[in-house]
Amino acid sequence: AVERTLSIIKPDAVAKNVIGDIVARFEKADLKVVAMKMVHLSDEQAGGFYAEHKERPFFKDLVSFMTSGPVVVQVLEGEDAVTKNRDLMGATNPADAAAGTIRADFAQTIDENAVHGSDSTESAAREVAYFFSDEELCPRTR
Ligand code: CMP
Repeated sequence: AVERTLSIIKPDAVAKNVIGDIVARFEKADLKVVAMKMVHLSDEQAGGFYAEHKERPFFKDLVSFMTSGPVVVQVLEGEDAVTKNRDLMGATNPADAAAGTIRADFAQTIDENAVHGSDSTESAAREVAYFFSDEELCPRTR
């Protein structure tokens, strides 16, 4: 089915100047960008986005990393977009990520792992709404 998923290009990848390389991988896989913005997240924005991880030991470091520089937040649309994006990203820990995946190619550590992608269609709906209003989602009719 055609789905939407939320993708974040994290501060490490933005700093490496590989925004275009990462977006090219989405486009080559037939995912279409239907919304996109660059934002330097506040502690409140990052903490709210990762609220489900609030009790995890890595939460504080995660928020401090995600607010350390600008990120690029996008909504990707396409057939099986959630799974397709996760396949393109590779495992959360770059050390476990398959060759040719975004994290294998652009990330060094589990904390600074280049990209985030929604883990289910339910998360995607929540995460897309967290960053974008309906009017900011652009239908791609051609
Ligand atoms: P992300 O998909 O953005 O969701 C939460 C992030 O926490 C994850 O990617 C990792 O970058 C980071 N993180 C750090 N340590 C861990 C861990 N042990 N398990 C899962 N995520 C972790």
